[in-house]
Amino acid sequence: MFNKRIKIRELLATEPAGQEVTVMGWVRTFRNNQFIALNDGSTNNNLQVVLELGKFPEETLKRITTSASLKITGTIVPSLGKGQKMDLNAATLEVLGDSDAEKYPLQPKKHSLEFLREIAHLRFRTNTFGSVFRVRHSLAFAIHQFFNEKGFVYMHTPIITASDAEGAGEMFRVTTLPIDGTAPKNEDGSINFKEDFFGRSTNLTVSGQLEGELGATAFGEIYTFGPTFRAENSNTTRHLAEFWMIEPEMAFYDLEDNMNLAEEFIRYIIKYAMEHNREDLEFLSQRLAEEEKALPQDKRSEMGLIEKLEFVLNNNFERLTYTDAIEILRESNHNKKKKFQYPVTGWGMDLQSEHERFLVEKHFKKPVILYNYPAAIKAFYMRQNDGCAPGQQTVAAMDILAPGIGEIVGGSQREERQENLENRMKEIGIPVEELWWYLDTRRFGTVPHAGFGLGFERMVQFVTGMTNIRDVIAFPRTPGSAEF
Ligand code: 4AD
Ligand code: MG
Repeated sequence: MFNKRIKIRELLATEPAGQEVTVMGWVRTFRNNQFIALNDGSTNNNLQVVLELGKFPEETLKRITTSASLKITGTIVPSLGKGQKMDLNAATLEVLGDSDAEKYPLQPKKHSLEFLREIAHLRFRTNTFGSVFRVRHSLAFAIHQFFNEKGFVYMHTPIITASDAEGAGEMFRVTTLPIDGTAPKNEDGSINFKEDFFGRSTNLTVSGQLEGELGATAFGEIYTFGPTFRAENSNTTRHLAEFWMIEPEMAFYDLEDNMNLAEEFIRYIIKYAMEHNREDLEFLSQRLAEEEKALPQDKRSEMGLIEKLEFVLNNNFERLTYTDAIEILRESNHNKKKKFQYPVTGWGMDLQSEHERFLVEKHFKKPVILYNYPAAIKAFYMRQNDGCAPGQQTVAAMDILAPGIGEIVGGSQREERQENLENRMKEIGIPVEELWWYLDTRRFGTVPHAGFGLGFERMVQFVTGMTNIRDVIAFPRTPGSAEF
């Protein structure tokens, strides 16, 4: 058996009392031919390994280079040096894998995030990405725990679909037909997808919601947690072409129940990370503070990262209607001084991220839930509110906006009335026949129901304070970029 090691995180939590241990990991630094800072990915804290002078052959010492992998057995003793409570006095040392120091691109110095993105396959070995991805893991775990405790059924919805769940047409096509112009054609010259693998035109899913609704109207409460794909050509710090989404869907929920669940959910997973990743969050908090020092005073966050997370745990989100939000924006000095790039034209306009950020960061200074949006700017499945003034039809939609990020959750109560739903679909040209299976939920025992989607990477951004979404997913897929 090879793996008789203790992880460094676990080891550092013990008292140094002469215990014999084996550790394995990668060299971060090696100085004076005597002190190795060893990291095994369980924590950013390195273990100091001390080599007695003269004890190990010269050839072995030469091989202890940055990022070489080592197996070391020895005795844990209180450290004589400052900065760590224990040392490992090495008795045996084995180099498992050499690392050519001349070619290894990560030096023990500060690298820019842009540079690290170009070596995304190695960036996990830095403190920043170590912390980010351990936090990402914890959030994912907490998400499953939250829904499991509530009795939700975890549902795996398909990645390949024939429908456009959001009706936004931002899909990646999936096909096995040749792309060299020889694909079979219909009489009108269009491609004959009957000859394609699935016998129809298919694409990567933009959302698991429609299938989720089928689950909710049988199990009561379900959630999905999987990859989703959007071919929107947005090169921003908040958009990915491939991102992970959590989509709970609940029967017997109205819009308010939906908002309550979303708030409880977000608090729960933040709390979990605060309890299980304190060290990593403190590191990231420090990192963010450092980074913000380079910004002018008015661009810096008012709160530190941990402070911000604690604030979210202890304060309710602000809830207001879209209509009230438009009024606030219209009346704001920011608008009067024409400081918005997109002017606030009035009711019916779609909110740009600068508007969302104004509401969250400048006006309310806390997360905000906007609800009851104009039907015209939202998806077809959202429940039409009754009693709206003519020309002011709204739907029971809700978006959660977070400081520094903007929209983090999008959701709604669903239109459970078959007639209303079909009319809306026809109005905006969504083929009713193709979604026959979806409409069956409305035909056979329809119920009030609701759900939302949390963008996982945006949540990880919020909790880690990373400003670019490319730095919270292992291998980002963005327009023009699919390396690794
Ligand atoms: O608001 P969206 O488009 O809503 C839906 O897809 C619904 N079907 C959800 C539901 O009700 N079940 O997307 C939901 C969330 C957004 O609020 C955002 O956080 C994230 O998904 N998101 C993206 N994240 C990264 N990159 C992108 N291109 C994203 N598009 C949406
Ligand atoms: Mg949305």
